[in-house]
Amino acid sequence: MTTSKRLSIIGTGYVGLVYAVCMAELGHDIVAIDVDAAKIARLAAGSSTIYEPGLEDLLRRNLDAGRLRFTTEYDVAGADFVFLAVSTPSTLEGAADLRHVRDAVQKIGENTHGAHPIIVNKSTAPVGTSDTLDYLLARQNGVGGHEFEIVANPEFLREGSAVRDFFHPDRIVLGSHDEAAARAVAALYAPLDAQVVFTDPKTAEMIKYASNAFLATKISFINEIASICEGVGADIGDVAHAMGLDPRIGSRFLNPGLGFGGSCLPKDVRALTYLGAVHGAHPQLLNAVLQINADQRRRAIRMLRDALGSLESRVITLLGVAFKPGTDDIREAPAVDLARLLMNEGAIVHAYDPFAMEPFSALFPQVEMFEDAYAAASQADALVIATEWPEFSALDLDRLHRLMQTPLVADCRNALDREQVLAAGFACFGVGTGIAGLGAIKQRPARRSRAAHASPATGVAAS
Ligand SMILES: NC(=O)c1ccc[n+]([C@@H]2O[C@H](COP(=O)([O-])OP(=O)(O)OC[C@H]3O[C@@H](n4cnc5c(N)ncnc54)[C@H](O)[C@@H]3O)[C@@H](O)[C@H]2O)c1
Repeated sequence: MTTSKRLSIIGTGYVGLVYAVCMAELGHDIVAIDVDAAKIARLAAGSSTIYEPGLEDLLRRNLDAGRLRFTTEYDVAGADFVFLAVSTPSTLEGAADLRHVRDAVQKIGENTHGAHPIIVNKSTAPVGTSDTLDYLLARQNGVGGHEFEIVANPEFLREGSAVRDFFHPDRIVLGSHDEAAARAVAALYAPLDAQVVFTDPKTAEMIKYASNAFLATKISFINEIASICEGVGADIGDVAHAMGLDPRIGSRFLNPGLGFGGSCLPKDVRALTYLGAVHGAHPQLLNAVLQINADQRRRAIRMLRDALGSLESRVITLLGVAFKPGTDDIREAPAVDLARLLMNEGAIVHAYDPFAMEPFSALFPQVEMFEDAYAAASQADALVIATEWPEFSALDLDRLHRLMQTPLVADCRNALDREQVLAAGFACFGVGTGIAGLGAIKQRPARRSRAAHASPATGVAAS
């Protein structure tokens, strides 16, 4: 059994909220703090602000048990530990923007009132940030040396399985100049039975960036191989499968698609690239990884144009807008790039996603969102699988074929059975597979006036 500690967690986004709820579940006394008053009010009422399997039940249970509290006040004075989980977005140059981290540290300094909780940084921040935090806190308190112990504790949870990942971590990395502080943080995790790596702060910070950069590299690698497969006529599905059977390679992150997205991989690779460049390295591999990623989105547009000609006034339906299945997060999602590129080509974009309608609709009010995949596909000139939600592989292809204006499927996640799609009378392209069945498009009559038919696809305000 853990000894219960008092934790203040700053930031209640994907990391901070999951963390606050799960740490409460472990028996700790949690105060979760955010500058966003609306978010705090909703969380305090027991309603999760993000979609994450299992999270809302745990949130309610721990609120009811009195182990979890949400506030906009910097209630840190009585804490044993203060965890930082604020966002670290990209600057225009690609560096990690530490504005929110600096702001939070300033407020911690103002509100500890002489107490010295251990500061644990979970925000992904450039190598050297722990030392910066130490300096900022010491400067603020007007002391020469450091007063607070700082522990870098990078977060590795995956959206879509964040609660599970919290309770079954692959590893816990703790970087500190103070061994006792690192061991005190490790004790919080004692019930999790995870491998703990103790190291210095810079190494801990680098482990996070290197891990994400490696995953991103794997994705760009397989996407580049997919392009070559398409050129030479090899089967990318079989290539990836057989490669993955080699345990040195592994099968995860070998799915060709639209490239990586989300709130972490793109910004972390950019930040590491920037960090490398300003420290005298020449990060050619990382630059290529980013370039290949951007090209994957453009490739999808080119393929659509190859099949349809001009995209002007074409209705293109995006199936899936979340950056991956299992989450409602659309930050840097491929669908966001696709929507922008398509609208720039004059296309009319329709979309459906099981969970991410609300943020997408807020970002693109001009995109019509629909209540299901069939409604979204009605009268469309192409269906683009942009997120591989499992429900899309079970779609009734004959029904879709009847509903669409032009029978074209752009399976940008290689999620569907290509033979079945072609057999249902569609033209189809995937990633690394080229276009097949183009004849199906030519057989179709010219577009009827959009106003002339009653559309079964009632636009729904995303709820
Ligand atoms: N999302 C992930 O899957 C994931 C995984 C591992 C690591 N990380 C890292 O964790 C950090 C947080 O990521 P996230 O996805 O949870 O971000 P997020 O944007 O979802 O949440 C950040 C929260 O911090 C709040 N905030 C900002 N400034 C604040 C301040 N000064 N005081 C209090 N609250 C403040 C925001 O209002 C927001 O609610 C980032 O550095 C990210 O790179 C994220």
